[in-house]
Amino acid sequence: MKPKIMVSPSVRDDNPGLLEERLSDIAELVFNTFRGSEDIPSEIKDSEAMILGLEPVNKDVLRNFPKLKIIARYGVGYDNVDVSACTKRGIYVTHTPGVLSHAVAELTIGLMICLSRRLVEADNYVRTMWANKHKKFKLEMGTDLYGKTLGIIGLGRIGYEVAVRAKAFGMKIIYYDIERKSEAEKTLEARYVDLETLLKESDFLTIHVPLTSQTRNMIGEKELRLMKPTAYIINTSRGAVIDEEALCRALKECWIAGAGLDVFVSEPLPFNSPLINMRNVVLAPHIGTYTVETRRKMALMCIENVRAVLMGKTPPNPVPEQRGFVFKR
Ligand code: GLV
Repeated sequence: MKPKIMVSPSVRDDNPGLLEERLSDIAELVFNTFRGSEDIPSEIKDSEAMILGLEPVNKDVLRNFPKLKIIARYGVGYDNVDVSACTKRGIYVTHTPGVLSHAVAELTIGLMICLSRRLVEADNYVRTMWANKHKKFKLEMGTDLYGKTLGIIGLGRIGYEVAVRAKAFGMKIIYYDIERKSEAEKTLEARYVDLETLLKESDFLTIHVPLTSQTRNMIGEKELRLMKPTAYIINTSRGAVIDEEALCRALKECWIAGAGLDVFVSEPLPFNSPLINMRNVVLAPHIGTYTVETRRKMALMCIENVRAVLMGKTPPNPVPEQRGFVFKR
């Protein structure tokens, strides 16, 4: 009997036929998943591998998968997986770093331009008002990116790619990270500053950190109040890095000028979220990596990791907490 791989259906939908083509020689693929520990279809409980979207895998979920050897996250962030519980059970956790940095960086810049040039309002204006002789509404003027300061929280792989693009636009780069990146400082002419300075000086602020217990709510009321009233915040990392309630107040009371958000505390963003009716925000449905090329590269990376483990080898892309680990099961 071939081992079973549970594949989150979104992974198949993004890459029709690819997983079957590259894995069905060694495994049976089951395109099904779960929402929580109460809701685990019986047909996936004997899976030896998971190719996982954003479904939460905690201890209770793991108990239902006694044969599991690997969770291959289809993405770089793995805050939805309890890595230490996996490590205790000898389950590899892998992710897809690097291949998605360009796509996320491009979306980040896209959100910045959407905000600075009021593109969503401009689109609506053309469709509903521009040709109307009696129009009263005047589209507000935008602002340049050129000459502005971009503050980057987290100058890792994605933050770096954002900086490269922003530099090409003539922006000044400042960054805050738990580690100094001297090489990047030279190539980007980026200045390292503490978080407070970054908040005070940025015209655009973008976040590229993983969600951990240290980064959860790292941007709250105190931090938002330090920002310029003309500043924009962009988040393409994880929603919970920002205290969303404080952000809503900041946007409503104009402590900052606006926000470009691809990620939210609760996804899909509920229709009753105050963000839905705000005009100074641009919203996207967690599409940082959602391009044909990037989603294929991510799937191929998952495939490599799963194949390695099902063939008795160590996976090439373990999460940092499991680097160098060898599980014998
Ligand atoms: C997307 O959210 C990812 O983790 O890559």
